[in-house]
Amino acid sequence: MTPDLMEEGAKTLARAYKLPTNAGESGGREASYGRVVEPGQLDVAHGSILYLEDIEVSFDGFKALNKLSLDISVGEMRCIIGPNGAGKTTMMDVITGKTRPDSGTAFFGSTINLLSMRENEIAQAGIGRKFQKPTVFEQLSVFENLELALKADRSARASVFFKLNSEQLDRIGDMLQLIHLRDQAQRTAGLLSHGQKQWLEIGMLLMQNPKLLLLDEPVAGMTDEETERTAELFLSLEGKHSLVVVEHDMKFIHELTTQGATADRKKVTVLHEGSVLAEGTLADVQANDKVVEVYLGR
Ligand SMILES: Nc1ncnc2c1ncn2[C@@H]1O[C@H](COP(=O)(O)OP(=O)(O)OP(=O)(O)O)[C@@H](O)[C@H]1O
Ligand SMILES: [Mg+2]
Repeated sequence: MTPDLMEEGAKTLARAYKLPTNAGESGGREASYGRVVEPGQLDVAHGSILYLEDIEVSFDGFKALNKLSLDISVGEMRCIIGPNGAGKTTMMDVITGKTRPDSGTAFFGSTINLLSMRENEIAQAGIGRKFQKPTVFEQLSVFENLELALKADRSARASVFFKLNSEQLDRIGDMLQLIHLRDQAQRTAGLLSHGQKQWLEIGMLLMQNPKLLLLDEPVAGMTDEETERTAELFLSLEGKHSLVVVEHDMKFIHELTTQGATADRKKVTVLHEGSVLAEGTLADVQANDKVVEVYLGR
């Protein structure tokens, strides 16, 4: 790879991870700016990794989020389902600072007030987000994509000349294994299947070691086999990262919630018209008449 390509990639990635991005997928309003939060300030002593209370977001009078409250524990894998337009992506926009709510409370751990932070500060504090569309660097190899993600903490320019040490090489190796792309390390990312690109992007996010990972429809467009492997991958992250997974694929949700160490306790939240319609085990929400009526029965 030419230094030019690498430099361009590093700049783009730094932009993607560090700076308030443009409107993007759901066209969120850009957040106003607040204080700078040093990494390491996250306090999870009280059990919540994410706490939302009475969040309201209106677009021209239409309430996309309507008194939305959500409490996610440290280490939890929370699945979120709900019909199109329920507000799932808007909720992620609020958590990541892309959209500023009209009112409400949003905390990361018990001390970090997300509503006073910019998008880049929130990413730095340890919240990673996977958008629906894969956004890998198509011209770079799988390995180089992970390398860039590892270096995204440094200034883009410095990272181009920054040489990997053996510990970092090991981390990339472990990640290649985890995302099932060890055999593809030198392959150009643009040649991967859709599912493999999604895994690569998840790997890139994981290289940043997020405390909380938000995944918006991660298996959309994947083959059945890729979907199954993605469920295995997410289950293997349990305990190491807290995960919020938004999906319409109920087989995938079933797999995530009925497997793994905390299978009997895993909760599913159903969003509808901007607020929580139901919450409980998958069996609970599947048996809920209101949920069947607005979502599962269709
Ligand atoms: N920037 C915006 N301007 C106006 N309306 C918006 C904007 N972003 C979202 N909305 C509206 O807010 C509602 C919630 O949208 P959102 O994308 O959060 O839904 P969702 O639950 O993610 O749906 P899906 O399952 O289709 O992805 C929708 O009615 C949508 O049209
Ligand atoms: Mg959405």
